[in-house]
Amino acid sequence: MSNIVAIVRNLWKYYIIGNTSVAVLKNVNLEVRRGEIIGIHGPSGSGKSTLLKIMAGLEKPDQGEVIIEGYNLNLLSEDGLAMIRTNIVSYIPQDYGLIEDFTVYENIELPLMLLGLEKRERHIRIMELIDYMGLRGKESIRVKYLSGGEKQRVAIARALTITPSLLLADEPASNLDWENAKKVLELFVKISRDFNTSIVIVSHDPRTLEYTYRRFEMFDGILRPLT
Ligand SMILES: Nc1ncnc2c1ncn2[C@@H]1O[C@H](COP(=O)(O)OP(=O)(O)OP(=O)(O)O)[C@@H](O)[C@H]1O
Ligand SMILES: [Mg+2]
Repeated sequence: MSNIVAIVRNLWKYYIIGNTSVAVLKNVNLEVRRGEIIGIHGPSGSGKSTLLKIMAGLEKPDQGEVIIEGYNLNLLSEDGLAMIRTNIVSYIPQDYGLIEDFTVYENIELPLMLLGLEKRERHIRIMELIDYMGLRGKESIRVKYLSGGEKQRVAIARALTITPSLLLADEPASNLDWENAKKVLELFVKISRDFNTSIVIVSHDPRTLEYTYRRFEMFDGILRPLT
């Protein structure tokens, strides 16, 4: 197993805004080492979510490449990308990506169904994750009734169903007050220690960086290391 989980090389992404093409990622380079937590701080609109979505194989770059556990995402078919998302990379979207009308249990169950696990196996895994995330007692509550911090923990539980090599967290703390944000960020530190998972956390709140080991700043599509 290589010590490098992900390589982002010379990445460019353009969007057509109005009738002009605007570069939102400008030659972004990044290496993610196994088990580390990377923090990317940057203002709204600087390209953070775009970078994470490309690293998760959800969007395609216009130039450059992303290599995850040796797989060059540019060379994969849709099925190949789906394999990466169900086995190697978990992306937690900025808006949690949960189904609000489903219960906590059902939201965590969905990816396990996609993996083809039997009901009994699913149940064991779901209850493990519910305990791990401190959600015991909330299993049958519909997600729409949860607090922001609880929703974020369900989103993390769902992302952990596969024990990913790489966890991409898009603004995991931004909708929370700082006390709850800290609890979520401490959970990421615990996850990286417990599972040797590499984690990339993007945020416009610089306090998030305290919980990361290697820090970068994204500004107007350009990624720079922070010293
Ligand atoms: N699908 C799209 N089509 C056109 N423009 C887009 C699209 N997605 C993002 N953009 C633009 O790209 C730029 C970067 O967006 P992105 O969501 O990556 O920023 P961000 O750093 O995550 O911001 P925030 O902190 O507000 O989440 C923004 O100007 C945005 O309007
Ligand atoms: Mg964003």
